Amino acid sequence: MSSLSYNDNSVSAVAEVGDEIQLSLQGITKVFPGKKDWMSKLLRRTSPDFMALDEISLDIKHNKFVSIIGPSGCGKSTLLNIIAGLASPSSGTLLMNGYSLEGPGPDRGLVFQNYALMPWMSVEGNIAFALETVAPTMPKVQQKRAVKENIELVGLTGAEKKHPHELSGGMQQRVGIARALAINPQVLLMDEPFGALDALTRGFLQEEIERIWDQQRKTVIMVTHSIEEALLLSDEIIMMTRGPGAQVDEILEVPFPRPRKREEVETHPEYNNLKLEMEQHLYRETRAVEKSRL
Ligand SMILES: Nc1ncnc2c1ncn2[C@@H]1O[C@H](COP(=O)(O)OP(=O)(O)OP(=O)(O)O)[C@@H](O)[C@H]1O
Ligand SMILES: [Mg+2]
Repeated sequence: MSSLSYNDNSVSAVAEVGDEIQLSLQGITKVFPGKKDWMSKLLRRTSPDFMALDEISLDIKHNKFVSIIGPSGCGKSTLLNIIAGLASPSSGTLLMNGYSLEGPGPDRGLVFQNYALMPWMSVEGNIAFALETVAPTMPKVQQKRAVKENIELVGLTGAEKKHPHELSGGMQQRVGIARALAINPQVLLMDEPFGALDALTRGFLQEEIERIWDQQRKTVIMVTHSIEEALLLSDEIIMMTRGPGAQVDEILEVPFPRPRKREEVETHPEYNNLKLEMEQHLYRETRAVEKSRL
């Protein structure tokens, strides 16, 4: 049975798989309101409402590595931000372990594409700041230990006192990952975490993230544009349709054994079929977006 089910938000469907489900999205819709105020009307600059997501329902099981892929602008970041609690859905419900989620919380850690580090803070300062914000009552000794352990985990020992401008893009993203993991979230959310990196660094960090995931076994939800990256890292790949009103088109199960080695994954008998299916999906959806612009 698939560990993910979608577009079925009935209570019985949730109860059937019981407590294995960690995160349940039920009918998540997001409408960005258009401009309709009197000033916009006066200047003839009104705009209609925009429905980015249309009734997305998904169940994500514990400890799975799930990727979200879809044409540019379809609503992947909007969906991830809703899960992170940084944006609220216009309608629908988000449940974590059966409980309703509202707003951000320490149970979810977010890694941004552009690192989003505090430039005036050192590596350890950035991580400690996240801990102080999320767990202000944590004793200093424990906080220091969490900072140290996570710096070690992402391979940045020796760079603790450096500031972001002294680090390469890959190292900055390691800080971003350490910062998200330091709060010990149940779910790690990553929005195109390696998108801004060169191919070599990207490949290296992909391997690192698999190692970290293997060690920590957290649920990971990663938005990516890269088919190869999704196939290398994921247990399941959620393919979204184009917007407006994006939905889940299909969920692919990735059967490759773990730990994964890039060469073994790429020579797996299922690799080319899955890759082709994803390419066709992205091509079809992107072409439809381009056509609608003509
Ligand atoms: N604050 C906003 N107000 C109005 N529309 C928005 C807002 N944020 C996003 N959108 C629109 O919602 C749609 C989805 O945006 P989103 O950033 O989630 O897409 P995406 O799939 O992450 O794109 P990309 O692959 O380029 O990162 C886009 O059409 C975007 O223009
Ligand atoms: Mg995005």
